[in-house]
Amino acid sequence: MLPTQSVSQSKIIASTTMDLYCFFAGIGLYVCAVWLYENLRTPVLLTLNSVKHFIFRTKLSQRYGKWAVITGASDGIGKGYAHYLAQKGMAVVLVARNEAKLNKVAAEIKAKYGVDTKVVVADFSKGQTVFPHLEKALVPLDVGILVNNVGVTHGSPKYVDEVSQDDLWGLINVNIGAATLLSNILIPSMKRRHRGLIVNVSSMASIAPSSCLATYAASKSYMTSFSIALREELRPFGVEVQTVRPGFVHTNMTDFIVTGMKDKIDKKYLVRVDNFMAYAGCTIGKTDLTCGHWSHGLQTAGLYLLPEFVRLSPVLLMELEKDTQIT
Ligand SMILES: NC(=O)c1ccc[n+]([C@@H]2O[C@H](COP(=O)([O-])OP(=O)(O)OC[C@H]3O[C@@H](n4cnc5c(N)ncnc54)[C@H](OP(=O)(O)O)[C@@H]3O)[C@@H](O)[C@H]2O)c1
Repeated sequence: MLPTQSVSQSKIIASTTMDLYCFFAGIGLYVCAVWLYENLRTPVLLTLNSVKHFIFRTKLSQRYGKWAVITGASDGIGKGYAHYLAQKGMAVVLVARNEAKLNKVAAEIKAKYGVDTKVVVADFSKGQTVFPHLEKALVPLDVGILVNNVGVTHGSPKYVDEVSQDDLWGLINVNIGAATLLSNILIPSMKRRHRGLIVNVSSMASIAPSSCLATYAASKSYMTSFSIALREELRPFGVEVQTVRPGFVHTNMTDFIVTGMKDKIDKKYLVRVDNFMAYAGCTIGKTDLTCGHWSHGLQTAGLYLLPEFVRLSPVLLMELEKDTQIT
C-alpha cells in the first residue's frame, strides 16, 4: 500500500469516528434535555404558580365553582381529596357504593369545615346504567371541580386468566368508564361557564407495566393518556385538567403489600393519605401533571431512566415467581 493511500484512509477513519461521536453526543444531549424538561416542568410551574396564588389568593370556589365532586370519596385518597377541598371552602359531593360510609364522611366534613355536602350512591362496576342517576344529581349543581379518583385492583396480584370475567369487566368500568363518562356529563356545563377543573387520579403504574396487575396498570395508562389529551381539548374553553400519578400510598387498596412487609422501617416510611394530600393538595390549580407526593416525583424521574423490562414492578414479579415455584 502507498503511504499517501494509508494517510487518506486514516483521515477517513478519524472523520467517521468524529461524526459518530457527534451523533451520540447529540442524542445524549437531546435525551438529557427531554428528561430535564419532563422532570423539572412540574416543580418550576408549582413554584411560579404558588407565588402567583400567594399574591392573588383567589378561593378555589371563586375560581372554579361552588361544588367539588369526588368519586371513591368514602375512603383512601378520595376521602383525602374530599377533606382537603372542603377545608379550602368547597361544598363537596361524595360518590361511592357504601351509603353508610359516605354519610359518615359527609357528617365529619360538615362538622369540621361547615361546608355543604351531598352523598350520591353509585356502583361504577355496573357500567353505563348508573350514569343517568349521576347526571340527574350532578348537572343542576355548579360543579367547579371533578376529582376522578375511583379505582380498584383485583386484590393481590393475579394472572389475567385467574381473575373472573365479572371482576375484569368491573375493573374496566370503574377505572376507565367512570372518569370517561363523568367527564362527558360535566364538561358541557364547565365549557359554558368557561371555568372548571378536572383532576384525574392515575398512577405511577401507568409508566410501569405490572405483571399480575396487568389490567390495573393498563387502565392507569388509559387514565394518563386520556387526561393529558383532555387537557389540550379543554384548554381553549378555559377548563383545566390535572393528571395525578401517585406512587405507593397506604390505603385499603395497598394494604396487602403492607401486611406482607416484614421490615418495620419500611412501614415507618410509607406515604399515608394525610402525607400525600399535604403535597398533592398544594398542586391543585397550579400544575397540570404531578405525582402528588415529592418522593413519588423522584421515583418517577428515576423510572424514566430505566428500560421497560427493568420498570416492571419488582414486588409483583416476586409474587409471580413465588406462585410459579408453588405450582
Ligand atoms: N393507594 C395507592 O398506592 C395508589 C397509588 C396510585 C394510584 N392510586 C389510585 O388512587 C385512587 C384511589 O385509590 P385508594 O388507594 O384510595 O383506594 P381505596 O382506599 O381502596 O378506596 C377506593 C374508594 O373507591 C370506592 N369504590 C370502590 N369500588 C367502587 C365502585 N365499584 N363504585 C363506586 N365506588 C367504588 C370505595 O368506596 P366503596 O367501597 O364504599 O364503594 C372507596 O371510597 C385509585 O384510582 C387508585 O388507582 C392509588
